Amino acid sequence: APEGDAQGDAGPGCPKGPGPELFTWEFATDPYPAYAWLREHAPVHRTKLPSGVEAWLVTRYADARQALADQRLSKNPAHHDEPAHAKGRTGIPGERKAELMTHLLNIDPPDHTRLRRLVSKAFTPRRVAEFAPRVQELTDRLIDDFAAKGSADLIHEFAFPLPIYAICDMLGVPREDQDDFRDWAGMMIRHGGGPRGGVARSVKKMRGYLAELIHRKREDPGDDLISGLIKASDHGEHLTENEAAAMAFILLFAGFETTVNLIGNGMYALLRHPDQRERLQASFAAGEPGLLETGVEELLRYDGPVELATWRFATEPLVIGGERIAAGDPVLVVLAAADRDPERFAEPDTLDLARRDNQHLGYGHGIHYCLGAPLARLEGQVALGTLLTRLPDLRLAVDPADLRWRGGLIMRGLRTLPVEFTPLV
Ligand code: HEM
Repeated sequence: APEGDAQGDAGPGCPKGPGPELFTWEFATDPYPAYAWLREHAPVHRTKLPSGVEAWLVTRYADARQALADQRLSKNPAHHDEPAHAKGRTGIPGERKAELMTHLLNIDPPDHTRLRRLVSKAFTPRRVAEFAPRVQELTDRLIDDFAAKGSADLIHEFAFPLPIYAICDMLGVPREDQDDFRDWAGMMIRHGGGPRGGVARSVKKMRGYLAELIHRKREDPGDDLISGLIKASDHGEHLTENEAAAMAFILLFAGFETTVNLIGNGMYALLRHPDQRERLQASFAAGEPGLLETGVEELLRYDGPVELATWRFATEPLVIGGERIAAGDPVLVVLAAADRDPERFAEPDTLDLARRDNQHLGYGHGIHYCLGAPLARLEGQVALGTLLTRLPDLRLAVDPADLRWRGGLIMRGLRTLPVEFTPLV
């Protein structure tokens, strides 16, 4: 088992007495008890990650929100002060210079401000809203493909293909090429680590494809997001081809596994809470879509796709939650822990689809707040709403104890979600 280390001598950042083991199999299955312990006893906690890198975990809501907005915490891995860093062996994305890695999640202002402004001109809420009928069509088509069987693995047959087809469509990847993306993305999610072997090959193929697609769209623009990215200008500035490729890549990458997990974790939570699920289905029957909207936000808070926000590095010595962080130290904000903080949320371990006071951190906070949140909300609402409408007696086909969670650092999601239902004929 990967070594977890919440134990150790009392000292700065070390809890008094033994704490929970982190990054074990039990932890991957249910990290929330460990997070409750950390929030209470070691809210800003230095630990050794499975990769060997030491990092600070920030688990209280107030500290988390503040850290996400703190400009002294850089997203640029060049600020990481760690010997392994130079050798590129930390598993931190972007530490090894690669063309596609100069993207929003690895850069700071002023570059971040410029690139984000440009992409926001192309990736607008209006473009997303216009895309709603297509998301519905994709959702129905995927359900049609397994509906007659009476059983399915909702991850592989539904949650996984939906976001990849959706974002490919939005970017302007022709339909006949989208299955290649499905394969490349599958490779990336299966391995879920740094670019090694098959993952590296998939990234390379995707990069080559995107570069060529951008080139083609420059010659012959369409109504798609890539053409929009190429056209977008700000004070006469445009994205370079490299920047446009990195942007397309981050949209795919940031919008893919997250949405798989929103659908997977969300449906799993609903299946485990029959009262909430019945309440939701009753609201559809009554023609009240409101509960689906607050419900998807609550599912993000309760068991969101992004367990830890992406890497941040202290550019100068600073204090978070009373703990002194040295320049160069990596800081990981634990969104999943912050979103269950009883100091912020009433009955945080209760799933309440009608929760109103729900300013969760599932999409982050501050300048890196999720750019794709409108698309993620749309996909989550259409996917969960349509599944429960068309397959009203959907139920788990396995004992929850037999379900396996992917053991990644940043993301939290199920490997499979086998379900049964009355077949549609
Ligand atoms: C950033 C969550 C879906 C694109 C983020 C961040 C979070 C997040 C937590 C901030 C990370 C940090 O500060 O370290 C989610 C969740 C999603 C989702 C929970 C699904 C339920 C999407 C989709 C897209 C997308 C569908 C695009 C198609 C992005 C981009 C950023 C980002 C581009 C970087 C923004 C920046 O750095 O300025 N997301 N995301 N996300 N997300 Fe999402």
